[in-house]
Amino acid sequence: MTREKPKNLWLSRWGFILAATGSAVGLGNIWKFPYITGEYGGGAFVLMYLACILAIGIPVMMTEIAVGRRGRGSPIDAIGRVVHENNGNPLWKAVGGMAMLSGFLILCFYVVVAGWAFAYTWKMLDGSLAATSVEALGGVFEAHNANPWQLGGWSVLVALLTLWIVAKGVQQGIENAVRWMMPGLALMLVALVGYAFTSGSFDAGFAFLFHFDASKITGEALLAALGHAFFTLSLASGAILTYGSYVPDGQSIARTTFMVAICDTLVALLAGLAIFPIIFANGMSPSAGPGLIFMSLPLAFQQMPFGTAFGVLFFAMVSIAALTSAISMIEATVAYLNEQHGISRLHAAIGAGAVLLVISLLAMLSFNLLAGWTPLGKNFFDWLDYLTSRWMMPLGGIFMVVLAGYALRCDILREELNLPPTGYALWLFMVRYVSPVLILVVFLNALGWLLFDPVQRWYWIAGAIGLLAVAGELLRPRVTSVLIGR
Ligand code: PFF
Repeated sequence: MTREKPKNLWLSRWGFILAATGSAVGLGNIWKFPYITGEYGGGAFVLMYLACILAIGIPVMMTEIAVGRRGRGSPIDAIGRVVHENNGNPLWKAVGGMAMLSGFLILCFYVVVAGWAFAYTWKMLDGSLAATSVEALGGVFEAHNANPWQLGGWSVLVALLTLWIVAKGVQQGIENAVRWMMPGLALMLVALVGYAFTSGSFDAGFAFLFHFDASKITGEALLAALGHAFFTLSLASGAILTYGSYVPDGQSIARTTFMVAICDTLVALLAGLAIFPIIFANGMSPSAGPGLIFMSLPLAFQQMPFGTAFGVLFFAMVSIAALTSAISMIEATVAYLNEQHGISRLHAAIGAGAVLLVISLLAMLSFNLLAGWTPLGKNFFDWLDYLTSRWMMPLGGIFMVVLAGYALRCDILREELNLPPTGYALWLFMVRYVSPVLILVVFLNALGWLLFDPVQRWYWIAGAIGLLAVAGELLRPRVTSVLIGR
């Protein structure tokens, strides 16, 4: 079968690396990673997180890029084509559909958080954060959220910027934007780490992030690390797969994946190194949750030399990081409407934007007019987060590795990945046995169905991987024909 001709390609080798890093680096790195690292025990959590990136994140990311490039299209089309190449069941396209939906739904609440970052860049400048206590700043944060027009206005601004960039196309829009945003982001981060270095409590921040305390390795923490690895690398949400479909033939998927994963991890660690010293220098608690950057940092910045300038720099950095992630969440949908239904990118962006507006409006109103509407104990904003990260991403991840490891003919992805034999064998071992078992553990734990502690009973997990390896190898021809629907 002849391969699909690409309609869009990144202009340069750096195009994909910058865009994928832009997708990966976002609120997950700058806000969530430092905070959960603090909560789950600093150094021990960092170690588990790194292990998860290696054991699951990297193999899954390689798979998504390979499937995207092989199928040359949005998740539904790309998966449809690689499955077709195997004469398989077109039902597999549903995995692409779910990924696309995940990315879209994540965006519906992500624009609200990104809107906070944009608003705080402005508030830092106009003096409305000149409060003198964390309580008073908490009041500013609550007042911001209580006003639907203010909260909505900033979120809509983020959504419009996102749609505008995506509507302009892969090269003119996305690649052009990340070409200057990503180096800008790197410079801002370096400046902030330098500032944190001179702020006096760098050692305390460093120790907090890297002090290894073995007693903090718990099943709960491992699962948090595993879940975060998915979110932070933008996996199972259509973003990486769609960006992968624009990667030119010949570019090394493994090398690129490692670069993106290393950059993403480095930014998370540097963000921690920039934030915690500032928090400690001002005698604040590192475990303030969502309020960590919005309630305590503005106060800390005020008490430091050139604080306003660096505060603006900080929130501008968070805004840019959030924007480059937001773009990737909707690209799959726009690419799908454009390629599959022949709708122009502009019209696709307008249509997707209209739906986005309606759903994200409900997320915004969760903080004010609809605050009392909490079906099954969660408001709409929390439901979106819960549904995507607890259910859709782990499920999508499992289907993806099962597709790559069992359902597809080996030669397709081997050709696409183009690895030396040991590298390929390692990737295959990971996607066939290690990743599915580990993802299943996260998933079952999220459901509360896991009856053992995954760290204390790690030998159950090792046993399951071994069992799957033996059973998988013995039964694979049968498994493959069942999975592919032949
Ligand atoms: N990786 C992004 C972050 O860490 O903030 C979040 C994300 C981006 C998730 C794109 C999903 C996605 F498709």
